[in-house]
Amino acid sequence: MAGARIFVTWPMEAEARAILAPLGAVETSPTEDELPEAELAARLADAEAVIPMGAHRVSASLIAAAPRLRVIAVAAVGYNLIDVEAASRRGILVTNTPGVLTETTADMAWALMLATARRVVEADRFVRAGRWKGVTWSLMLGGDVHGRTLGIVGLGRIGKAIARRARGFGMRVLYHSRRPDPDAAGLGAAYRDRGELFRESDFVVLAVPLTPETRRLVGEAELGLMRPEAILVNVARGPVVDEAALARALREGRLAGAGLDVFEDEPRVHPELLGLEQVVLTPHIGSASRATRLAMARRAAENCRAALRGERPPDLVNAS
Ligand code: GLV
Repeated sequence: MAGARIFVTWPMEAEARAILAPLGAVETSPTEDELPEAELAARLADAEAVIPMGAHRVSASLIAAAPRLRVIAVAAVGYNLIDVEAASRRGILVTNTPGVLTETTADMAWALMLATARRVVEADRFVRAGRWKGVTWSLMLGGDVHGRTLGIVGLGRIGKAIARRARGFGMRVLYHSRRPDPDAAGLGAAYRDRGELFRESDFVVLAVPLTPETRRLVGEAELGLMRPEAILVNVARGPVVDEAALARALREGRLAGAGLDVFEDEPRVHPELLGLEQVVLTPHIGSASRATRLAMARRAAENCRAALRGERPPDLVNAS
């Protein structure tokens, strides 16, 4: 469809904009900040397509305010902030960008595992504060990563990429997902039910999409099963974890630490977590490598282009 109006919610990379340019008028937000819903609605009033960053909500009321909209091409793998049902009712295609961010997000899960276990951020703060007075025997003792047990909740693309990396660290790998996965044996990963996984793992890494079933998947009960030396890592979505329960468990020493890239109410972080040394906090940057962000932008643009041309986008999430 030539002559389409496309709105992109950030100042998109030129390489990705070039994919969209032949389709019509591409308008990009001058800022990366989330636009207030009223402003986004004004931008979408006569748009055929929107490319939102993962953090932008596209609600039913926003969709209602965009009568010409035909595609919502999300530049993220998680599309929990899009009202897919409302889009589907209007025949609007919704796409995401799986695949291109898998390895980068798996790297981030490992960065958090290593940083939390070996107290990297705390040690950095210690040195910068001028508190380092010399090498001492028991300075910043942490836990090992190699040789321990890794429990992955959600063995999708990202979960599998996390599991693959565990080989090099000589780890035992367990996983839990809705059903046993045929690829698991090849990854050396053994299925456990949820309780067993939390009980047996030294590292529990969350790599599930946010759905009604996974919301608050980790609460008081699951945290209560974890070992006092265990570490929780979340690169999925904040609401998968009951943050207040996590903060309490950490404060009471019922688990050793947490590496968190996502939060229940971003960008707000539970105030108790901010005060805990054994927690590593990152601002939802799981897929934020330069190369992967560009790949995501390009992929979102390709999905958008296919939809506007009347073709089936490669990453359609609301296929009928
Ligand atoms: C990031 O959180 C994504 O879903 O891609």
